[in-house]
Amino acid sequence: MKIPLFTWLFLIPFLTIFFGVNVFLVSGQCRKDQQSLLLQLKNTLVFDQSLSAKLVKWNSTSDCCEWPGITCDEGSGRVISLDLSFESITGGLDDSSGLFSLQFLQSLNLSFNSFDTALPVGFANLKDLISLNLSSAGFTGQIPNDFSKLTKLVSLDLSALSFPGGPALKLEKPNFATLVQNLTHLTELLLDGVNISAHGNDWCKALSSSLPNLKVLSMSNCYLSGPLDASLAKLQSLSIIRFSGNNLSAPVPEFLANYSKSS
Ligand SMILES: *[C@@H]1O[C@H](CO)[C@@H](O)[C@H](O)[C@H]1NC(C)=O
Ligand SMILES: *[C@@H]1O[C@H](CO)[C@@H](O)[C@H](O)[C@H]1NC(C)=O
Ligand SMILES: *[C@@H]1O[C@H](CO)[C@@H](O)[C@H](O)[C@H]1NC(C)=O
Ligand SMILES: *[C@@H]1O[C@H](CO)[C@@H](O)[C@H](O)[C@H]1NC(C)=O
Ligand SMILES: *[C@@H]1O[C@H](CO)[C@@H](O)[C@H](O)[C@H]1NC(C)=O
Ligand SMILES: *[C@@H]1O[C@H](CO)[C@@H](O)[C@H](O)[C@H]1NC(C)=O
Ligand SMILES: *[C@@H]1O[C@H](CO)[C@@H](O)[C@H](O)[C@H]1NC(C)=O
Repeated sequence: MKIPLFTWLFLIPFLTIFFGVNVFLVSGQCRKDQQSLLLQLKNTLVFDQSLSAKLVKWNSTSDCCEWPGITCDEGSGRVISLDLSFESITGGLDDSSGLFSLQFLQSLNLSFNSFDTALPVGFANLKDLISLNLSSAGFTGQIPNDFSKLTKLVSLDLSALSFPGGPALKLEKPNFATLVQNLTHLTELLLDGVNISAHGNDWCKALSSSLPNLKVLSMSNCYLSGPLDASLAKLQSLSIIRFSGNNLSAPVPEFLANYSKSS
């Protein structure tokens, strides 16, 4: 049945009254609280204006859902994705930053910056995160226990190129097994260049018992010791595995060649 346009125009005031919705709202319009958190974040970050392609364009003259690097939920105006990769940020991210109040974020990418600070524990507030990319973001030191609470994560990238001064991030307390214990939805885990330095091969058993859905596992230059444990053969979805630059003290065993999806 086709309803004539004039009928719709007639219905609009009633829809507005009965459902309390403003049918004239443009879908995806930014929520005010989200916009002020983003502006607070911009104000606290230290970045090079001349090299920034995204942050430099954030201002209140336009809807924050239209700002580069931002994706909003259709309709609700909640910010669900933030990508500030390659923004030449050199600092200013701490637990008081507006970032950790953007509670609807599902995807966060801060890769390829130079934060040059310890990882703030505030990341744990972002409980809806599905994808977290801090690759080569310049964070240093111990990966906080709070990361183990991001149980919706499907993709976690903390990889960095190894550089002379030694690894920037490490997993000691908590160790690798504790970090991944409840991150059971992970399909991508990239930890290249993180000092995992686990004794023996307990890290293999942690992988095979906690992360059954892994497709991509990248742990080159992690100071891992071996030998690889046969339990890894349980990870039947794995299609990409990188273990180079570790001292596994034995060749990669045959069972790894048996992964049905190995490339
Ligand atoms: C606000 O951002 C827009 C682009 O998003 C830009 O054209 C404009 O110059 C900016 N205004 C100020 C005051 O920075
Ligand atoms: C993280 O972001 C970088 C670029 O910013 C990209 O190359 C890399 O593939 C991303 N990681 C994942 C797991 O998508
Ligand atoms: C940021 O990282 C996400 C995955 O975490 C990836 O999908 C996206 O492509 C990355 N952005 C850029 C610009 O590489
Ligand atoms: C994982 O979840 C279990 C059950 O909720 C909890 O007891 C345990 O402390 C969690 N582990 C970590 C490392 O958070
Ligand atoms: C890696 O971490 C271990 C213990 O946490 C430490 O003894 C070792 O020196 C670290 N390796 C490097 C290269 O930093
Ligand atoms: C690699 O590990 C083996 C056995 O644990 C050890 O004998 C050897 O010295 C290690 N090699 C390096 C380069 O650390
Ligand atoms: C690899 O798979 C083949 C055929 O499925 C099987 O015969 C062989 O025993 C497997 N090898 C290992 C080391 O699991």
